[in-house]
Amino acid sequence: MNDTTDLKFSTTLNPTPATPERRAQIHAQPGFGKFFTDHMVSIDWTHGEGWHDAGLIPYGPIQMDPAAAVLHYAQEIFEGLKAYRHADGSVWSFRPEANAARLARSARRLALPELPEEDFLASIDLLVKTDQAWVPDHASGESSLYLRPFMYASESFLGVRPSKTVRYLLIASPVGPYFSGGVKPVSIWLSSTYTRAALGGTGAAKCGGNYAAGLAAQLEAEAHGCEQVCFLDAAEHRWVEELGGMNIYFVTKDGTLVTPTVSGTILEGITRSSILTLAGELGLKVEERPISIDEWRAGVASGEITEVFACGTAAVITPLGALAWEGGELEIPTGEVAMKIRQSLLDIQYGRAEDTHGWMRQLA
Ligand code: PLP
Ligand code: COI
Repeated sequence: MNDTTDLKFSTTLNPTPATPERRAQIHAQPGFGKFFTDHMVSIDWTHGEGWHDAGLIPYGPIQMDPAAAVLHYAQEIFEGLKAYRHADGSVWSFRPEANAARLARSARRLALPELPEEDFLASIDLLVKTDQAWVPDHASGESSLYLRPFMYASESFLGVRPSKTVRYLLIASPVGPYFSGGVKPVSIWLSSTYTRAALGGTGAAKCGGNYAAGLAAQLEAEAHGCEQVCFLDAAEHRWVEELGGMNIYFVTKDGTLVTPTVSGTILEGITRSSILTLAGELGLKVEERPISIDEWRAGVASGEITEVFACGTAAVITPLGALAWEGGELEIPTGEVAMKIRQSLLDIQYGRAEDTHGWMRQLA
């Protein structure tokens, strides 16, 4: 980590916050990432000066020069985490230090400045404390306040080099389930046209460009009646990597969880890593190893693979129900293992189970 760690945040409150009635309307049907709270946090960075001008400000449009580097060369990174309301009204985040660390790793890969962990955490504390009325009630089931920290190259300059000015923003959105219709098995398209990441590329970073590059594959999936894409490795088109916005797990009939090794092309998910820890406690074995598309197809056919699920902050844990590719398709069985892990993760996040790992951090 570099730069200062003693940022002071100014506060400018929104003179026209949403009314409680409007908030209640939004909470009744939040969707995902459609509505935003009254405030956001902004921190600027200047080459040679470091981080400065940290503040809580009203949520609203940002000014950007048409020559801002991010609009041309996509020097941008982001994070995603949630704030959960517990039954006693308190509000908590889940492993935010891991998001701070991943934002710093993404920053190094995209030649952006690293925001010190304490400033990242302070930005989250400040926004969630201020906008805590926006955190959905615990009784609403799986609703939460989705936090989206991001950082972009703000310098007006068309030369290709790291921007000398950068802006970090944190916005928040009350959300329900990522997939409309709640937890039901999703169908997966296996793209043979597109890959997501190659060794040495940006697959392990959470940068906007990765998602832009996945959109054509997503359209291909939809054209084939599928909801999400599963990407294979770029070198051999053989090894299962991950979905466009989620990691993947396989459950075998002897109760082993298998997930692809993170070796530079896969985003190291915080949900993925938490499942690695929780699995042992639930009596499941875990293996991180390469898994091929042939093993997936043969394993489902033979009954060796009993469940497949995707995991991520937005999607939590979502069973995969079908796999389709050019010229074929396969139904994937569903079972209780994914739902059991899902429940134990949600129980920790919503404060219904003891947090034995020190994963929860109180925000309000
Ligand atoms: N893989 C990709 C490409 C993602 O965008 C995400 C979502 O953040 C994940 C995996 C899961 O990561 P996490 O569990 O930290 O949300
Ligand atoms: C998240 O799970 O937080 C993500 O960023 C994934 C995105 C596709 C919504």
